[in-house]
Amino acid sequence: MSLMAEKLSPLDRLGPQRISILGATGSIGSSALDLVAHHGGTFSIEALSANSNVQLLAHQAIKFKAKLAVVADEGAYGDLCEALSGSGIEAAAGQSGLIEAAERPVDCVIAAIVGVSGLNPTLAAIKKGQRVGLANKECLVCAGDLFMKEVERSGATLLPVDSEHSAIFQLFDFDHPERVEKIILTASGGPFLKTPLDVMQNASPEMALKHPNWQMGRKISIDSATMMNKGLELIEAFHLFPVAVDQLDVLIHPGSVIHSLVQYCDGSVLAHLGTPDMCIPIAYALTWPDRIECPVKPLDLAQIGTLSFEEMCEERFPALTLCRQALQTGGCAPTILNAANEIAVEEFLCHNIGFGDIARVIDLVMEQAARENMLNNASDLQEIATVDAYGRQKALSVIKKLQAQGEFAGYSTE
Ligand SMILES: NC(=O)c1ccc[n+]([C@@H]2O[C@H](COP(=O)([O-])OP(=O)(O)OC[C@H]3O[C@@H](n4cnc5c(N)ncnc54)[C@H](OP(=O)(O)O)[C@@H]3O)[C@@H](O)[C@H]2O)c1
Repeated sequence: MSLMAEKLSPLDRLGPQRISILGATGSIGSSALDLVAHHGGTFSIEALSANSNVQLLAHQAIKFKAKLAVVADEGAYGDLCEALSGSGIEAAAGQSGLIEAAERPVDCVIAAIVGVSGLNPTLAAIKKGQRVGLANKECLVCAGDLFMKEVERSGATLLPVDSEHSAIFQLFDFDHPERVEKIILTASGGPFLKTPLDVMQNASPEMALKHPNWQMGRKISIDSATMMNKGLELIEAFHLFPVAVDQLDVLIHPGSVIHSLVQYCDGSVLAHLGTPDMCIPIAYALTWPDRIECPVKPLDLAQIGTLSFEEMCEERFPALTLCRQALQTGGCAPTILNAANEIAVEEFLCHNIGFGDIARVIDLVMEQAARENMLNNASDLQEIATVDAYGRQKALSVIKKLQAQGEFAGYSTE
């Protein structure tokens, strides 16, 4: 073997990697495409999808010479065909289009649709035994048991894209899980870590969208402000790693330099550090077990100087407590919690409810679901869909009722 050949990484030897991106027009999807552009011929694109952002999707598909572009919104199909005319790129729409994008054989599917809408297409990729880079955590929150059974059955490779789970994946001793005492997910604390509680309760969407460390889509930004995101990540971690619920902890680390930690029985605590940029975990999911260079600012610990930590205050972030309770309850509790959260976040972003009302609405829906015996296990996707619809409908009716009673908070204009 020549010296040159020895220097080649496995990725170089395999040749160009074909990838598809579900949710290409979003924050994660765009970061994945930035990485593709940065690495020139290393990756090629099979399929890209969006919900309705036809102009950006068509631009991406043409720029990256995709074979297929899909809009979930069937009403946008005509516009997509027009935007792609003469390019030779196939266009498709609706669920069948998303499933086709997910099923086409590729080296990796990046699952970056937001919310439970990503469940069916991501599962379609899993069922085909594809390698999936999973950003769309709601898949595991809503249908974790079914999803992981399908991963096992199909032999698919599931690689986490969430930075915390990517970190844990790199730190966890899968050969000796009994040596792991704790998984510690770090949380930046979001925009309201130090905000007076009364101001936080009445915060406007604009205030809640201003995350101090991460540039993200709107839904996950609000989830980060309520700490629902960390709760959803606890549920995600429970499905991805062989640990019990009480081995999952959260620690506030405002700098977002340590992405998570794994504590072992001998007292060792392993941490994963990196510049807070989603490019790194996306690249790792695409290239594992290899690594490639990422266009991110190198981590300069001397300049950072100090890493600080504090205990999570669940009084400030009741959404995290609701997630822990749903995880403990099991069955369909996380599915209903997620559905109620998706509705509450949407209503908050539309200025229909206050920031502090998000957790309140979810709590009321969970109480009602428990009373109505809706928290049992779902045996298939159809049941998950029914339970999800129940959670959405209950959240809407709780909101309507509280609005009628004039019980919602106002907004701060800061
Ligand atoms: N952003 C981050 O840094 C980050 C970090 C870790 C994990 N995640 C997770 O990654 C996922 C994506 O987050 P994001 O921040 O990238 O979200 P985002 O910026 O809102 O993008 C969401 C993507 O999903 C598409 N989409 C929305 N609704 C859809 C539907 N009903 N059917 C099909 N496609 C739909 C959007 O298309 P349009 O553009 O047409 O609306 C867009 O391409 C979430 O599950 C999030 O929790 C994100």
